[in-house]
Amino acid sequence: MSPDPVHRAPPRPAHFFAQQRDWPGYFNAVAGKGPRETLIQALDHYANHAGPLNPADPPLAIDLAAGEGRDTAELLRRGWRVLAIDAHPDAIARLSSRSDLAHRDRLTIRQESMEDTHLPSCSLLNASFALPFCAPDSFSDLWARIAHALRPGAIFAGQFFGDRDSWASLPDRTHHTQSQVHALLRIAGLSPIHLTEDERDATDCADAPKHWHVFHVVAQKATTPTPNRTAP
Ligand SMILES: C[S@@+](CC[C@H](N)C(=O)[O-])C[C@H]1O[C@@H](n2cnc3c(N)ncnc32)[C@H](O)[C@@H]1O
Repeated sequence: MSPDPVHRAPPRPAHFFAQQRDWPGYFNAVAGKGPRETLIQALDHYANHAGPLNPADPPLAIDLAAGEGRDTAELLRRGWRVLAIDAHPDAIARLSSRSDLAHRDRLTIRQESMEDTHLPSCSLLNASFALPFCAPDSFSDLWARIAHALRPGAIFAGQFFGDRDSWASLPDRTHHTQSQVHALLRIAGLSPIHLTEDERDATDCADAPKHWHVFHVVAQKATTPTPNRTAP
């Protein structure tokens, strides 16, 4: 007998699945969604300041923990060369089989974990809702690799999760205070273009209440090395 439509449970939101790292469940919940706002802001900033991309030699963007590819598809559509990295086989399968990938020949996909993947020099590094899932004891090393990969003038886009987020107490998550976020940007030589601190309670899932505390960041690396600020 088919379930009574009146009593069918409402679909669970994506964060229900992300909490338990159920990535196939997460990918189903976000299927068909468009690019993240932080990526759009980063791409618009780059286009406004660097002008049109050279189609014969497009710059490289890294999409770290790319998931099923909503941001990778937008990067390709805007003419970038893209290295998409994700640790989960289902992410790789879904991304590879997307039907909306423009310039497919400009896309490289690697199934690797952010804790030990090599990050080549790039003009944009996108980490949408990715960094909190890095193992805490590997985060400093990952951030050093991100900082090193960003060329002068390159853009970082993504989220840091804050210390008051409900998931901050989970042992496998990496969260930061506001001052730690600012310190991370500073040590990477990044100046914020957009930085929003979003703190609120989710109202859409009664069985998995969630307090969000998220920093949405778009930041640019200095075009010249930062002068050494030691005392005279
Ligand atoms: C919340 S999803 C975000 C996906 C995509 N960036 C987006 O904005 O929809 C987190 C992603 O991180 C990936 N992930 C989790 N832990 C990872 C790790 N240690 N290394 C690489 N990817 C990881 C998951 O497979 C998943 O695709």
